[in-house]
Amino acid sequence: MPFTVPDAPDFGEAAPIEASPETLAFLARRRSASALTLTTPAPTEGELATLLRLATRVPDHGKLFPWRFVVLQGEAKARFIAGLEAIAQSRADGDRLIAKLGKIKAPPLTLAVISRAPKAGEIPEWEQRLSAGAVCMTLIIAAQAMGYGANWITDWYAYDERARTLLGLEPHERVAGFVHLGACKDTPLERVRPEVEALVTEWKG
Ligand SMILES: Cc1cc2nc3c(=O)[nH]c(=O)nc-3n(C[C@H](O)[C@H](O)[C@H](O)COP(=O)(O)O)c2cc1C
Repeated sequence: MPFTVPDAPDFGEAAPIEASPETLAFLARRRSASALTLTTPAPTEGELATLLRLATRVPDHGKLFPWRFVVLQGEAKARFIAGLEAIAQSRADGDRLIAKLGKIKAPPLTLAVISRAPKAGEIPEWEQRLSAGAVCMTLIIAAQAMGYGANWITDWYAYDERARTLLGLEPHERVAGFVHLGACKDTPLERVRPEVEALVTEWKG
């Protein structure tokens, strides 16, 4: 990493709110990369540890940490993909499903972000699931800020029952996203963005 990422503050230490124009400029132009364009090198082991640390600094009602990660890389990732191919082949629309695996095959590193909502307690499940989405988004932002391409996808293998088992999910767990990471070989082009004004109303009673 050609730069250092500060340690987290100690518990109870002041964490001042400070303006970060560099962050604003970054967000104004941030763009996902297509997973198909991701290639080696992947984030290093040290960078991966930093990414995971940053990704878990998200709002989380009740401090339940309602998420976890499954790292997919190297030969084990190839075995996971082979397992997905076998599942796809046994399904009626197998060819279509296998074609979709290109997005998980190309990137050298994939992080499955798993939403856990084991407790039917005070914090609604919906809020616990939203926190997992925040983890995915923070992961993408951090990876792109390190100079890597990132792509948040789900695709059929996030929902297929046998693919869930292959990944090792418990019944209360859901795939929030497969976040694919790697060097980006093609510069992404800007996509359609919404007219924000059309999405905003002001409540006046
Ligand atoms: C929960 C979630 C699941 C997604 N799943 C897919 C997917 O399966 N396939 C796909 O092509 N894009 C998927 N996308 C969209 C990609 O992330 C897309 O590349 C992204 O919207 C690009 O936008 P950006 O440049 O603003 O980051 C998904 C997005 C989200 C939030």
